Amino acid sequence: MSRIAYVNGSYLPEAEAKISVFDRGFLFADGVYEVTPIVNGRLVDYDAHIERLDRSLGELRMAWPCSRQELRAMHEELVKRNALKEGIIYMQVTRGVADRQFNFPKEAKSSLVAFPQVMVLVDNPNARTGVKVITTPDIRWLRRDIKSVMLLAPVLGKQEAYEKGANEGWMVEDGFVTEGTSSNAYIVKDNTVITRPLSNRILAGCTRRALFRLAKEHDVKIEERAFTPDEAYAADEAFLTSASQFVMPIVEIDGKRVGGGQPGPVTRKLRELFLQEAQRD
Ligand code: PDD
Repeated sequence: MSRIAYVNGSYLPEAEAKISVFDRGFLFADGVYEVTPIVNGRLVDYDAHIERLDRSLGELRMAWPCSRQELRAMHEELVKRNALKEGIIYMQVTRGVADRQFNFPKEAKSSLVAFPQVMVLVDNPNARTGVKVITTPDIRWLRRDIKSVMLLAPVLGKQEAYEKGANEGWMVEDGFVTEGTSSNAYIVKDNTVITRPLSNRILAGCTRRALFRLAKEHDVKIEERAFTPDEAYAADEAFLTSASQFVMPIVEIDGKRVGGGQPGPVTRKLRELFLQEAQRD
């Protein structure tokens, strides 16, 4: 069965879900996006994603494409029409369709597209073994706090990781890890989770936010500071977070085994806490 996607007010079979060649998302990457997980047919952490969407739109002075109620209804309708039990809903807002000119077009109306993707999130086999990451230079722009669709640097970083037999690239700038190409980055040393503080240099992950709350509730200490690849090699544990990976253990960085090459206890506990909440949401 083909998927049903959403394009500017219409639910369409994926083969008919099309946008204009003049869409500024297509021409300039002039758009923002969100990826919301679905577990047991329910949206996980939806409000946090919408809050971040609102911020991304505001920072780019882009208009909302519809009301908040309509956006939520659209997400729920896509889940229903696709009978989606587990996976993600991808949504993208762009500055709309206009003649190609760099400055903001006056007449354009924001466009909104969305579609589901089936994924195994809860019982992801990678979580049992842990994944590998490599480090790679962070060549992105300096507004990484905006969830922009301008993703060429992450595409190149992820491809490099795959070609080296790893699942993710940790990007490095001025000697410190910023984040993964599509995830936030963490190490654990002496039972303390270490991760970079929020700034324009990383995306404020919704999973990161949930993790901070869960860690606080369960007395797991978090230290917000940047760390180097050398510190990561010597860490007791490492992991990443994202809406599509949740809390994912890392067992190898640049070919060096971390924490004996097994998912560590702090990481496993945090993943379990996150899963419990996602399944309850
Ligand atoms: N990526 N950092 C970057 C650069 C990201 O692209 C993502 C998410 C995150 C984690 O954010 P969250 O926990 O809200 O998913 C951090 C999504 C999943 C993607 O592009 O597919």
